[in-house]
Amino acid sequence: MFSADLAADSDAVRDMREFLTQFFGGPADYSARKGHPRLRARHMRFPIDQAARDAWLSHALGALDDTRAVHEIDDATAREIAAYFHHASAFMVNHSG
Ligand code: HEM
Repeated sequence: MFSADLAADSDAVRDMREFLTQFFGGPADYSARKGHPRLRARHMRFPIDQAARDAWLSHALGALDDTRAVHEIDDATAREIAAYFHHASAFMVNHSG
């Protein structure tokens, strides 16, 4: 679903970074650039089934762990981020597979 050569400076990575920054209370750069997130609608062009969701979620939780290895994130904050990843990725499922 993602291009194989997803670079750190790609639009996809920038979108994700700016969205999460905004969602967790930081500057609203994502909406300034792209408008309302409408995340479920923006994902409709991809067939996201349960397996895709599970794969995405395991990468997202892995990225959170990797980040905690190099940046201080307290347990309560990490739990809040992980809980958001669980419920938002379930909400993104739009295909029965
Ligand atoms: C917490 C759940 C998720 C969040 C917060 C999230 C966030 C985002 C954001 C902000 C974008 C950019 C949208 C735009 O501005 O057009 C995006 C794109 C995308 N997302 Fe997600 N997403 C989630 C779940 C998923 C899942 C479960 C899948 C599929 C397994 C997925 C696959 C994709 C793909 C393929 C793109 C396009 C990337 C590109 O432009 O190359 N996302 N996502």
